[in-house]
Amino acid sequence: MDNNQNDLPHLGLLAEYETPEALLSASEKVRDGGYKRWDTHTPFPVHGIDEAMGIKPTILPWIVLGAGATGTCTALLLQWWSNAVAYPFLISGKPLFSWIPAFPITFELTVLFAGVTTLFAMLGLNRLPQLHHPLFEVKRFARATQDRFFLAIDSADPLFNDSSARALLEGTGASAIEEVPNMGASKTPPMWLLQIAVVLAFASFVPLGVIYSAWENTTDKPAWHFVWDMDFQESYRTGEKVPLFADGMAMRPEIPGTVATGELHQNTEYYAGKTADGSLIGTAPVAVDAALLARGQQRFAIYCTPCHGDSGYGDGIVQRRAQKLISIGGANGWVSPTNITTDAIGGQTDGQIFNSITEGVRTMPAYGSQIPVGDRWAIVLYVRALQRAANATIDDVPAANRGGL
Ligand code: HEC
Repeated sequence: MDNNQNDLPHLGLLAEYETPEALLSASEKVRDGGYKRWDTHTPFPVHGIDEAMGIKPTILPWIVLGAGATGTCTALLLQWWSNAVAYPFLISGKPLFSWIPAFPITFELTVLFAGVTTLFAMLGLNRLPQLHHPLFEVKRFARATQDRFFLAIDSADPLFNDSSARALLEGTGASAIEEVPNMGASKTPPMWLLQIAVVLAFASFVPLGVIYSAWENTTDKPAWHFVWDMDFQESYRTGEKVPLFADGMAMRPEIPGTVATGELHQNTEYYAGKTADGSLIGTAPVAVDAALLARGQQRFAIYCTPCHGDSGYGDGIVQRRAQKLISIGGANGWVSPTNITTDAIGGQTDGQIFNSITEGVRTMPAYGSQIPVGDRWAIVLYVRALQRAANATIDDVPAANRGGL
């Protein structure tokens, strides 16, 4: 049973030593004396003091381990419950719950629980924060932060007996022994501190109340808006009446003859591959040179090869993939890309091929919006080159190069 502290004239005994060695040997004696509620105070860490005092390893790691494991389980349970039970949502046939994507949150929660617990368990085990300690009443104790070593036995120790404890300390060669005065209740926190604490405790409910009232009530006023920009300004909807214009219509009519910026193309032969009367032109309206053909080859490789193939035979990677699907019963209604080196396409005018690229042909999509006009003509010319290459004879090869074939 603990002694009742307030009945004793003092709260324990404080012994002062001049060297760490003296403190160590004194500690061993107090430890062997069987005392439990006592402590040492030194200006710097003294090696071997834990052992001399018989301090057992802290249980903190076990508390932290438990908290960490709780964090792990909480995270896994929460994610499993929300993804697989409360709100199952199938994404690309993936399992509703798997520990691998759940890992980051699990890791974070484990660290969070363990970290916060480490701090608070440490404070709790050390009985911190402690605003005042009876030892501060002993004047010479101030030197515990400078050049003296102290050992204090608490009168609350079950073994504590004034004379035997004093005799034990005297036998340890202490340079001084003092009683720790019992100041009773005079050291309780002042009244005003308590009042502030009460006010703060009540004030802490205000934000909760505000949140609750916002939750319960509806309002037609906009939410607090700190950066206004142009979020609130007078504006009209399409069908509304506005006094500003004579006809009163908010939606303004198109001004006749207006052309969108960059869309005024009077040279229809170049821009549309058509003459002014709308018929397709025969020959590309561009000057042909090696650079333009090279550009055509490069653009063809980007935009046309996937379907029509490198040589234009209609055997691009998309077509080959489709054939594979067809062989296993897929790709229903597939239309193969045309072999554009045949006489049928070879006989078409430049304007028609240009038009096929611009507008698309039956199932072939339009590329007018993706390929600029100049590049479309370059591609037309390259298609012409492919058609000639596909139908070449030995006469097309310069005589000097025939031996290399
Ligand atoms: C997404 C695949 C695909 C791409 C890319 C593609 N085509 Fe085609 N193309 C087709 C298909 C499919 C047809 C046959 C359309 C049909 O008969 O319904 C076709 C037909 C054609 C024809 C024949 C038109 C006619 O009059 O019969 C030409 C010429 C042609 N493509 C040129 C091109 C050029 C040049 C490019 C590159 C700018 C290109 N295609 C890009 C799929 C494609």
